[in-house]
Amino acid sequence: MFENFKVPKDLIPTDPRFGVGPSLIPTEAVEKLAKTGHELLGTSHRREAVRNVVKEMQEGLRSYFHLPADYEVVIGNGGATLLWDMIGLGLVEKSPYHFVCGEFSDKWFRANKNIPWLTPEAKKVDFGQGINPTDMPGHDLIACTLNETSTGVMLSELPQVGPNTLLAIDATSGAGQIPIDFKKSDLYYFSPQKVFASEGGFYVAIMSPKAIERAQKIEKDHSRFVPESFKWSHAIENSRQNQTYNTPAISTIFFLNEQVKLMNKLGEDQVVKEAKRKAALLYEWATEKSYLSPFVAEEKFRSQAVATIDLSEKFKADDLASCLRAQGIVYDIDSYRKLGRNQFRISMFHNVSYENLEKLTKIISLAVESSV
Ligand SMILES: Cc1ncc(COP(=O)(O)O)c(C=O)c1O
Repeated sequence: MFENFKVPKDLIPTDPRFGVGPSLIPTEAVEKLAKTGHELLGTSHRREAVRNVVKEMQEGLRSYFHLPADYEVVIGNGGATLLWDMIGLGLVEKSPYHFVCGEFSDKWFRANKNIPWLTPEAKKVDFGQGINPTDMPGHDLIACTLNETSTGVMLSELPQVGPNTLLAIDATSGAGQIPIDFKKSDLYYFSPQKVFASEGGFYVAIMSPKAIERAQKIEKDHSRFVPESFKWSHAIENSRQNQTYNTPAISTIFFLNEQVKLMNKLGEDQVVKEAKRKAALLYEWATEKSYLSPFVAEEKFRSQAVATIDLSEKFKADDLASCLRAQGIVYDIDSYRKLGRNQFRISMFHNVSYENLEKLTKIISLAVESSV
């Protein structure tokens, strides 16, 4: 259908990367890392040079998010997927309650279901619908996903949970662009290969004193076996020393720090403002065109980080995505594989410019309109 479509020169984006993770890492950051020569890569992560980068990144996140002084920026290897198990093993007492609205929130729920002594429950909505978490009496951890990357649904509200409950938020693809009130959150975690433009395999977990206390209490209860590498105490103690429990990829930390510095130059308010401007561009376009529609019907749940846009069945989104990829012009706008929809999923992350998103909308419109 789109085999003969050629993108006009004036619509070619300056960067083809529109994927929702791994996401666009600025070439300038890569060059800057190369210029560090012998000073970082290939040196010990327990020595000052690397620990200074870690410290700058932790402090940069603290100031970007305006964290309460007693919250800690805990880091480690393994990414958000590993944290699902770490949370189940070391932060949940007995019964977590999950708010599920897509593949990632469901995966977290399933991870907890695998732990024999836990009794997780969930409220699930159809994919594409929004859901806001509430406190659930009788449950000791509320699990929710700030931005469901698979469906492009974001949360619009957070509950104030009770004194014996933790609010845990998977913020993987929303962190940086969907602001929250940290005083309500006990665990806010993300992998940095999304808005924070780094590589995968790493996590940041922002913990309240209540979450740290819970982790310590569970670890003292020796009746529960927790593998060494999943222990919160190792992660917390090492993070306090600007280190990770085991060896990290130094490049990941470097890119994350560069992105935190970049975003701190503007500050969270301005970054969020830009994100909203991009979201308005994409959703207005999708509403205007007869052959497009935003997948998420309710406006307040439409993500300002990941846009999901359905295409009329008369056209094939996958074919157009492949044709653009083959020309080296647009990468990774396919829908989430397991969702199986005729859809584009487009990153509105900080490094994807408004101008390039505008070009992308024009490319898709032109391709579809000239195919009939
Ligand atoms: C919302 C969400 N949670 C968790 C994950 C898993 O992250 P990782 O692959 O870094 O473990 C992803 C990955 O895309 C995600 O989007």
